[in-house]
Amino acid sequence: MAAAQRERWSSRSGFILAAIGSAVGLGNMWRFSYLASDNGGAAFVVLYLAVTAMVGLPVLLAEVVVGRGSQKSPIRALQHYGGSAWKPLGLVFVAAGFLILSYYGVIAGWTIRYAVIALVTGFGPEVEGAFGGIAQGWDAFGFHLLFMLGTIAIVAGGVKGGIERSAIVLMPLLFVLLCGLALYAATLEGGAPGYRHYLQPDWSEVMSLEIFSKAAGQAFFSLSLGMGAMLTFGSYLGRDNHLPNETLMIVGADVGVAFIAGLVVFPVIFAFGLADKVGESTVGALFITLPQAFASMGAIGRVVGVLFFASLIVGALTSAVSLLEVVVSSTIDGLGWTRRRAAWVMGAIIAALGIPSAWSTNFLGVVDTIANNLFLLGGGLALSVFVGWVMDDPVAEASVGTSGIRWFGLWRTLLRFVAPALLAIALLEAIPSTWQAIVDLF
Ligand code: TRP
Repeated sequence: MAAAQRERWSSRSGFILAAIGSAVGLGNMWRFSYLASDNGGAAFVVLYLAVTAMVGLPVLLAEVVVGRGSQKSPIRALQHYGGSAWKPLGLVFVAAGFLILSYYGVIAGWTIRYAVIALVTGFGPEVEGAFGGIAQGWDAFGFHLLFMLGTIAIVAGGVKGGIERSAIVLMPLLFVLLCGLALYAATLEGGAPGYRHYLQPDWSEVMSLEIFSKAAGQAFFSLSLGMGAMLTFGSYLGRDNHLPNETLMIVGADVGVAFIAGLVVFPVIFAFGLADKVGESTVGALFITLPQAFASMGAIGRVVGVLFFASLIVGALTSAVSLLEVVVSSTIDGLGWTRRRAAWVMGAIIAALGIPSAWSTNFLGVVDTIANNLFLLGGGLALSVFVGWVMDDPVAEASVGTSGIRWFGLWRTLLRFVAPALLAIALLEAIPSTWQAIVDLF
């Protein structure tokens, strides 16, 4: 069979929107707000912004450069520039796709379930107890399946007809919903301490290695880095995109949405006196506190609740699509399967892998910890070494489509020294606690 033409985005903005769709997701709302409130509020935000600028941005550009330059899915792309010795890293990337989507789908399932509750009955005062029932068991699994069906359908539709088209519709929708919610939150009485906790750093906490490590994991998760998702999206690019500008836009949008989500979550939680509750349940924070707040807002709370969870679903869907696409593109390229078959078979396997996470939020939390601390930080470390030291001339590849950029020297330095050093520190710091979390589970 003659090699089929590689799929392509239909336009420059198609790639940008799809990449923003990948980046903006549950990570910006669910994960960002629980980590920030758990780890010193503004101190966490400061470190997260610093890591995003110094490590996230250069690694994002590196991933897209490898993808566009090689025009291949992760395993082959690494082989293309680094030889067969680098194929195993590609396999780790694909494995991370399986791992992350398996529990991401479960959390996305909760959001669907919550949107339905908000729409049909509204939240009662007993949400805290209800979360346990919704989050674990057949319910959780059923909504996870539903979410996976949507994800698979989009990926099966292809790069242009599925992934790009869904992002073009869903991303603006999410943005509008979230801005509306932030404006509403600003009208709440008693929200001021929420803003303060979120925006006024306690500088003594900024110096914490532990918070730094979590902020690095969050920066990577939120930007979809460290497992070849952006690499894969880059492989559908032609040669006229201005990658430095576009990666900057993607980072800007991702940070912007996380920031706005915080402007919704913190005032709401503080206005309703729920600040202490957030720390009690990590993965459940958003799903326990916010509905309680919605419940006490009466009729408005139902509208706000529906809008909030709808925007979460939207964000989750375009992100899950990119996770599945890593697995699917590798299957198409590696095994010669059709896109449809790859999407349905791999999607079904991932849905099944979600079963333990659907039955135990503890298990889910541990998988999330492993995925971020080990896979993404480790993957990002390996990738920055790869592009900084192994790839022949990354600057030449990154320059395609630009008229030469003064900052490329700085980019390479960041990839060679700064990113590996900071990621190694974050990784080393995270290993003992990750190990402890695994031990505690059993
Ligand atoms: N970035 C997404 C979020 O914030 C999640 C995500 C999508 C992701 N693709 C990824 C995370 C690839 C890591 C790697 O919700």
